Amino acid sequence: MSTARLLGISILCLLLVRNSESVSDDVSALLAFKRAIYDDPLSKLSDWNSRDKDPCTWSGVGCSAFNRQVVTLELSNSSLQGFLAPEIGSLKSLQKLVLDHNTFMGSIPKDIGKLKNLMELNLSTNQLAGPIPSEIGDMTKITKIDLHANRLDGAIPPEVGKLGNLLELRLSNNRLTGIIPASNDSNMESANSNDQIGLCQLSQLTDIDLSYNFLVGDIPTCLNQIQRSSLAWNCFQNNDTSNRPLQQCMNENGLPEPLWLLILEVIAAVSFLCLLTLCTITGLRRCRARSSESRNSSPWTRAVSWKENTVISIDDDLLVNVPKISRQELSEACEDFSNIIGSSQETVVYKGTLKDGREIAVVSLSVSVPYWNDYVIEMARLSHENVAKMVGYCKESEPFSRMLVFQYPPNGTLYEHLHDGEGWQLSWPRRMKLALAIARALRYLHTELQPPFAVAALTSSSIYLTEDYSPK
Ligand SMILES: *[C@@H]1O[C@H](CO)[C@@H](O)[C@H](O)[C@H]1NC(C)=O
Ligand SMILES: *[C@@H]1O[C@H](CO)[C@@H](O)[C@H](O)[C@H]1NC(C)=O
Ligand SMILES: *[C@@H]1O[C@H](CO)[C@@H](O)[C@H](O)[C@H]1NC(C)=O
Ligand SMILES: *[C@@H]1O[C@H](CO)[C@@H](O)[C@H](O)[C@H]1NC(C)=O
Repeated sequence: MSTARLLGISILCLLLVRNSESVSDDVSALLAFKRAIYDDPLSKLSDWNSRDKDPCTWSGVGCSAFNRQVVTLELSNSSLQGFLAPEIGSLKSLQKLVLDHNTFMGSIPKDIGKLKNLMELNLSTNQLAGPIPSEIGDMTKITKIDLHANRLDGAIPPEVGKLGNLLELRLSNNRLTGIIPASNDSNMESANSNDQIGLCQLSQLTDIDLSYNFLVGDIPTCLNQIQRSSLAWNCFQNNDTSNRPLQQCMNENGLPEPLWLLILEVIAAVSFLCLLTLCTITGLRRCRARSSESRNSSPWTRAVSWKENTVISIDDDLLVNVPKISRQELSEACEDFSNIIGSSQETVVYKGTLKDGREIAVVSLSVSVPYWNDYVIEMARLSHENVAKMVGYCKESEPFSRMLVFQYPPNGTLYEHLHDGEGWQLSWPRRMKLALAIARALRYLHTELQPPFAVAALTSSSIYLTEDYSPK
């Protein structure tokens, strides 16, 4: 009898699971969304409980009354800080995504194009960077797109022209460049709507705001027929006084004028740091000079000879202790390498989550490094509270991959906080703490470590911050 009951229960369970399958998709997508947010000072997401089967009661989440699918996600002005998780694309029934006035960083995930039912997208007033993904053209039901006041760059994707239901498009106050994708306006034949491309295809459009960008080229005449259009403060090829001044347009990057106060603060912080490093170095030099007075060689020549010894003294056994991670695994952890959080000329940095839940930053080198193994060993032997901890590496030749995997420091780079953030997170005591910790890290690398590790270029963008604003 008990077997029969058990069977009955499992069938029931099976049915329940079947029924709630799509709801649990929503739950896991929302939980991924929450995980990518690393700061929630107002505890807006505190009732987003992973054990909950029904997300419809969670704050900011709205469900359809008849099938309990998530249809709205509205978290305006909630002081959320973090990234936009690509999993958001799995909210199949989502109609409204409103996350304005927060601190979302990183890029807009291309998975957003999977939101086929989305009608309103409002990500305005955040710190989103990178290009507008062309996949935005797949959200065919969309009526309102608001991405104003971010740091988006690149060109407006011509795919926007596929959004036949679009009424409002706000892309002002970004760093968009390139031409407005539209048909060549002097071309009279293109009055035929089939020939129209780009924004001129959007027959429903009533509001367009592209002001305060760095767009170039001609203004398509079709935009003048739109009820409300704002195109001021760009770099268009007309003689209009509403354009940006010429020298701003020459400077393609469109650097915003930093506040004099911020400059002063940065200068003060940097000179303090230099002074401190100098003091440490002189102090140590004197210390060493005293301890090695009998010897003729100065500490610096000694340091050089240590460096020469490096190759000999370190054997490949060390590499055995460093976990090798396959490209496949890293690709899964980093969502197909879509989540770029930083880059330089030779490296791209991705964020990811390993299967065991550890958050990682993956530094991918695009160029071949001659002594790759030595390099990995060098990085692996570093162990200090203020030096990024390496958790593994990846070396494959097909496709060519050279990657270093580090613990993920969730608070971005120091550069971002000094130049882009409002600066309020960096109080003076905090800056003091940072400067001291950086000096400690340098002391460790340059003097305590044997052989020493040379930091070739120390910049604020190579300093990452942890939750408690300790540098790495
Ligand atoms: C955001 O919230 C704060 C405090 O709750 C409020 O003072 C402010 O006006 C809000 N800003 C916007 C743009 O809604
Ligand atoms: C997006 O949100 C902001 C702030 O709540 C609001 O002012 C703006 O009108 C919204 N955009 C659209 C297209 O509704
Ligand atoms: C618009 O003009 C550019 C350059 O003059 C040309 O390359 C492009 O093909 C034209 N586009 C259309 C749709 O006519
Ligand atoms: C801009 O104005 C100047 C003088 O007013 C004129 O010579 C020039 O051709 C104009 N350029 C364009 C692109 O209209």
